[in-house]
Amino acid sequence: MAMKGFVSISRVVLVLCLLWLNAWCLDEADNDVAPMEKAEQQALYSAIQGFVGNWWNGSELYPDPCGWTPIQGVSCDLFDGLWYVTALSIGPIHDNSLGCAQNVKFSPQLFQLKHLKSLSFFSCFMSPKKHLMTIPNTSWANLAENLETLEFRANTGLVGELPSILGSLIKLQSLVILENGLTGELPRSFGNLVHLKRLVLAGNLFGGSIPDTYGGLTELLILDLSRNSLSGSFPLTFGGLTSLLKLDLSNNQLEGNLPMVIGYLRNLTLLDLRNNKFSGGLTESLQDLHSLEEMALSKNPIGGSIMSIKWQNLQNLVILDLSNIGLVGEIPESIAELNNLRFLGLSDNYLSGNLPTKLANLPSLNALYLSGNNLTGELKFSELFYGKLGRRFEAWNNPNLCYPLDIMSANHAPSGVKPCQKQEVTLLELNSKSKLVGASSNLNSEFAGSFGFSTHGIKTLPLVFLQQILTMVLLLN
Ligand SMILES: *[C@@H]1O[C@H](CO)[C@@H](O)[C@H](O)[C@H]1NC(C)=O
Ligand SMILES: *[C@@H]1O[C@H](CO)[C@@H](O)[C@H](O)[C@H]1NC(C)=O
Ligand SMILES: *[C@@H]1O[C@H](CO)[C@@H](O)[C@H](O)[C@H]1NC(C)=O
Ligand SMILES: *[C@@H]1O[C@H](CO)[C@@H](O)[C@H](O)[C@H]1NC(C)=O
Repeated sequence: MAMKGFVSISRVVLVLCLLWLNAWCLDEADNDVAPMEKAEQQALYSAIQGFVGNWWNGSELYPDPCGWTPIQGVSCDLFDGLWYVTALSIGPIHDNSLGCAQNVKFSPQLFQLKHLKSLSFFSCFMSPKKHLMTIPNTSWANLAENLETLEFRANTGLVGELPSILGSLIKLQSLVILENGLTGELPRSFGNLVHLKRLVLAGNLFGGSIPDTYGGLTELLILDLSRNSLSGSFPLTFGGLTSLLKLDLSNNQLEGNLPMVIGYLRNLTLLDLRNNKFSGGLTESLQDLHSLEEMALSKNPIGGSIMSIKWQNLQNLVILDLSNIGLVGEIPESIAELNNLRFLGLSDNYLSGNLPTKLANLPSLNALYLSGNNLTGELKFSELFYGKLGRRFEAWNNPNLCYPLDIMSANHAPSGVKPCQKQEVTLLELNSKSKLVGASSNLNSEFAGSFGFSTHGIKTLPLVFLQQILTMVLLLN
């Protein structure tokens, strides 16, 4: 169908040309096929055939790959009147994209496509057991003059190390090596890729430390090294990444202090360091990250006081996740001044004291996690607030926290938190009846604490209940 369409269009062109008797025009129409060097065309066919399998006969299926028989995933451009391939993406992105064969290979002809600006492989190298594929470590220099984008994404069968030679692709602006099976250390040579705007090496099995050379990538906007097994410290050279908008080092084994230089990243909107081994407290310079919208530090033994930062400086914060980082101190009022905050995670720390009542007034707050601390006093949120947050409010495992029973209908009561009055009343009743109050009030408050609390409480409930009945029997006697 499509081919027919093209043929008839070129007939129309021919007719039009005859009418004008334009010689150049005649020449064009006669040709039918966009001019392309034979070598370039053959290199394209061989390169693709290497990935999709020998059944694929380019010259038969796509006689004019940059003209009237375009190949899905291939783009071309004119240079000095000839067509060259400028983009090649392999893998099932669209219905009729080039799928990969079982026994894929990098054909050497791939590296003859010297005008390539963009090369990407998506879900192409897939069977890790049958066919291990590595990234070739030669010939890349041939593409260095033009290649701006290189991407290997979701290729579970792509293993081995990142060849250092990729560091010779000095025109690269985007290098994405995401969710493959690659191992080994990150090449220092990537520090030469000074035009990179985006460097994503996430979701592989990379180990070792982050090369300090990456601190020289001064044009970088996005740096994502998350979900690997990187160790060692946060490179001090990262203070040079002043253009950076997003820094994601989460889910690695990085350790040591958050260095002062982190505060130089003034344009940073995302800082994600979750699930590492960072320690040494909340670096004061974090408060200089005025552009920050998302700060996620959870699951690190960071320690120190939550009050060591002027939180009110970070007015753009939307997500603040400080769960499980060993923080002490009281939740400062300044956090309740972050008017854009939608997510506040403070659970599993050693936070104490009363909650700032202003928290309830945060206009966008949509999730508040406070469980597993030592917070005290009354929860002074409105029923409306609990209704809005639902399960996104958690405050259990704060033994000295309670909610005022009188203002709360049972279905909005915060799960795992005991009511204030009820407990006092029971204690009073017990007090008036018995001398065993010392032993029984403990049991009683434990009972109240676990009442309504879904998972933790349920197992201990029968035992506590039994003890309570026992106490009551004693009391009656
Ligand atoms: C493709 O087909 C043509 C003609 O149908 C044939 O001459 C050529 O050898 C084939 N090429 C490959 C690589 O199979
Ligand atoms: C690069 O290729 C050579 C052989 O061509 C091999 O000996 C070497 O181990 C390779 N290096 C990497 C990092 O793959
Ligand atoms: C930071 O962002 C501002 C505003 O977008 C921009 O003008 C400035 O050049 C950026 N700074 C760096 C170092 O890129
Ligand atoms: C919790 O706070 C109370 C005072 O409010 C204090 O007596 C107690 O030691 C704290 N518990 C822990 C585990 O820090």
